[in-house]
Amino acid sequence: MSTAISQTAYNYKVVRQFAIMTVVWGILGMGLGVFIASQLVWPELNFGLPWTSFGRLRPLHTNLVIFAFGGCALFATSYYVVQRTCQVRLISDSLAAFHFWGWQAVIVGALVTLPLGYTTTKEYAELEWPLAILLAIIWVVYALVFFGTIIKRKTKHIYVGNWFYGAFIIVTAMLHIVNHASLPVSFFKSYSAYSGATDAMIQWWYGHNAVGFFLTTGFLGMMYYFVPKQAERPIYSYRLSIVHFWALITLYIWAGPHHLHYTALPDWAQSLGMAMSIILLAPSWGGMINGMMTLSGAWHKLRTDPILRFLVVSLAFYGMSTFEGPMMAIKTVNSLSHYTDWTIGHVHAGALGWVAMISIGAVYHMIPKLFGREQMHSVGLINAHFWLATIGTVLYIASMWVNGITQGLMWRAINDDGTLTYSFVEALQASHPGFIVRALGGAFFATGMLLMAYNTFRTVRASNPAEAEAAAQIAVVGAH
Ligand code: HEM
Ligand code: HEM
Repeated sequence: MSTAISQTAYNYKVVRQFAIMTVVWGILGMGLGVFIASQLVWPELNFGLPWTSFGRLRPLHTNLVIFAFGGCALFATSYYVVQRTCQVRLISDSLAAFHFWGWQAVIVGALVTLPLGYTTTKEYAELEWPLAILLAIIWVVYALVFFGTIIKRKTKHIYVGNWFYGAFIIVTAMLHIVNHASLPVSFFKSYSAYSGATDAMIQWWYGHNAVGFFLTTGFLGMMYYFVPKQAERPIYSYRLSIVHFWALITLYIWAGPHHLHYTALPDWAQSLGMAMSIILLAPSWGGMINGMMTLSGAWHKLRTDPILRFLVVSLAFYGMSTFEGPMMAIKTVNSLSHYTDWTIGHVHAGALGWVAMISIGAVYHMIPKLFGREQMHSVGLINAHFWLATIGTVLYIASMWVNGITQGLMWRAINDDGTLTYSFVEALQASHPGFIVRALGGAFFATGMLLMAYNTFRTVRASNPAEAEAAAQIAVVGAH
């Protein structure tokens, strides 16, 4: 077997940029989360101004945490993973740079337009048409760089993590373009091309698959690379990962109607969405088990390695939220949970416990390697961050379960004469303690992010450019 050493280097610059911005947007998005959570405790924090009101800041929160924080984490890791598993540099530095700066521009656009009240009103697709078009262009560039690098690969196989990233890229493009079909009437106002129940169905086909492909499939790509790497064990079952992939992407796309139970949507579509959601439990847990079992023989590492702990606990929350989701998709359960804080608890079990925790673990894994250090500045601080994040998530979701079930039961309680037992305001008053606990949990989580920023800053400041340069060299050993 001949041995070839290629001296070309990976493009780590764009990975570094996205990794740092993951931390920055994480702080801003979650900080804003704490702020809007506090507005629900103390309404005075709306300040009586339109642009600081809950209604306008809430979509800004979701855009910042999903697209800015989550997006940057996905881009940083996908560029890192695709280069390392394909053993080639990204096909174009300038396209990658365009992707980075273009994405930041879209987010700044969101920061300006959402508080001003410009919105399509479609959840998770609020950005008006000029920004939506820019986003579509950037996405195509991302796809070109990612798939171009896959095509240029020096390895025979396409590592399974890349399959997940690839599906996330293709499906997100499809969802974004179809759901944004609209008629612009001015620079900042457009109307959806669809109407009535069709519009709702298209929106929740988008909305659910934003969860399924943006907040899940891409992060599973992350799981398939970073869990084995950090545990220093091969993935538990490669065969299971292939079954996991095809089952997940085949099923997810049908589950959208569970967001529209008891609406004008035809009944058969609601039942189909419910059935598909229940079946979805199987691939979701298959993936979680594959990740968890990768640790067999390495469980003791959890005692000393807080980065691995972030990754494994994220999988536990993934398992929990993908058990809860199918239950909530059952129509009778949904009749209780819908419109209540239960949904909000479910969202954040996935968002904080799964999406944020796995991203944090992956970023801690990458930062030292990207900046030529052995490890992060302080392992103790990572540990403190881990506990703040875990306790914060538990406080958040437990309080929302209690609130959700309380609200659902109070709203449906009926007296003998058919009148409502409780007024809406009474249910709101009963929710107040839960709102306080949620804000506290969020503050825990956001404080952890501040520790991460400090730890990252110290690691980057002590960066060793020569080491970083050496680490970026592609050493292709083996015959190709
Ligand atoms: C410090 C952490 C966070 C806090 C305190 C927080 C707080 C909040 C609050 C108060 C709401 C509005 C709930 C309502 O309308 O009753 C919300 C909504 C939401 N947040 Fe967060 N959040 C945090 C982190 C995150 C993260 C990291 C993500 C995603 C990765 C996320 C995704 C969402 C989504 C998708 C919604 C909308 C849920 C829905 O419409 O059902 N949040 N958040
Ligand atoms: C098998 C997996 C899952 C299923 C079947 C599922 C199912 C559901 C159901 C039934 C709802 C409530 C819909 C409603 O009453 O309006 C919901 C809401 C939601 N779920 Fe999941 N879920 C799953 C996993 C996840 C994960 C892993 C995440 C996050 C990473 C997540 C994020 C969300 C969000 C953001 C919403 C709120 C949407 C909105 O109303 O704005 N879900 N999910």
